[in-house]
Amino acid sequence: MKKYLVIGNPIGHSLSPLIHNYWMKKYRLTGSVYEKRKVEEKDLKDVIKEIRENKIIGVNVTVPFKKLIIPFIDELDFVAKETQSVNTLYKVDNKIVGYNTDSAGFWNTVNILYPYNDDPSMPSPLEGKCVFILGAGGVTSSIISALYNKGAKIILSNRTKKKAEELKKLFPELEVLDWGKRPVVCDIVINTTSVGLTKHEEIKIDFSDYNKNFHKNILFYDLIYNPKETSFLKDARLRGNRTMNGQMMFLNQAIYAFKLWTNITPEIDDEVIKLLD
Ligand SMILES: NC(=O)c1ccc[n+]([C@@H]2O[C@H](COP(=O)([O-])OP(=O)(O)OC[C@H]3O[C@@H](n4cnc5c(N)ncnc54)[C@H](OP(=O)(O)O)[C@@H]3O)[C@@H](O)[C@H]2O)c1
Repeated sequence: MKKYLVIGNPIGHSLSPLIHNYWMKKYRLTGSVYEKRKVEEKDLKDVIKEIRENKIIGVNVTVPFKKLIIPFIDELDFVAKETQSVNTLYKVDNKIVGYNTDSAGFWNTVNILYPYNDDPSMPSPLEGKCVFILGAGGVTSSIISALYNKGAKIILSNRTKKKAEELKKLFPELEVLDWGKRPVVCDIVINTTSVGLTKHEEIKIDFSDYNKNFHKNILFYDLIYNPKETSFLKDARLRGNRTMNGQMMFLNQAIYAFKLWTNITPEIDDEVIKLLD
């Protein structure tokens, strides 16, 4: 049996097993199973040992271990190193490698709205744009890394300012704003905080004047996908802004992990979307 895991604490809410087991069945990987395991920090080295001994083939890492796992890993891919955040583990040439698929998972979804041409002679669709990011938690560095160096001005604000300033050490071009303040206008506003996970919980920043006609194309993006529409997104929708929740990012990060482990690029079909509903 080939075993895969998602580790975190808490872990009960994780939908990763549903998705990966669905794909394993769909692509007839009959000897494979994906489970969730609640772990403590002291258990991390044992999980790595299990990968070394082929007892586990691949692991997804979630809150609060994406950074804490790093000391136990042999190698990091470029994005994991840049973001200091690992969400996927896999053994390659006898080395445990830590990958970050959150960043590409997010970028893929933005890329649909702002089609990006990798040809360096073409202007970036993000050139001259302003991106306002709320939060500086574990996932935020993945979001910044996806958008960084693509011509956009990135402004970051977090309740605990020190954490935003820590991120500025990794991404020096960031502009840090006090919590509660906001740019006069911006093109993309991204909620990377956990505010909204509980229904009716609100980010107390007033974006009501982002509704004027010339601001209408602003995209409000919430990484949260359960609930599907947070207050942050509902208010934006009622103002006439564009909105996106975290569902596609979540599916995309899972696609990249699945591809790493199995060499199969799974499809996003109606069934898998239903699993998240
Ligand atoms: N769609 C996806 O694929 C995906 C992937 C990863 C994460 N997520 C979502 O992204 C969110 C953040 O995840 P994470 O791993 O970064 O979590 P985290 O490390 O726990 O960070 C939580 C963030 O939320 C802020 N926050 C919490 N309560 C707040 C409040 N009452 N007022 C203002 N700010 C508050 C924290 O600010 P302080 O620093 O001041 O505490 C911190 O910036 C979660 O909702 C998670 O579900 C989605």
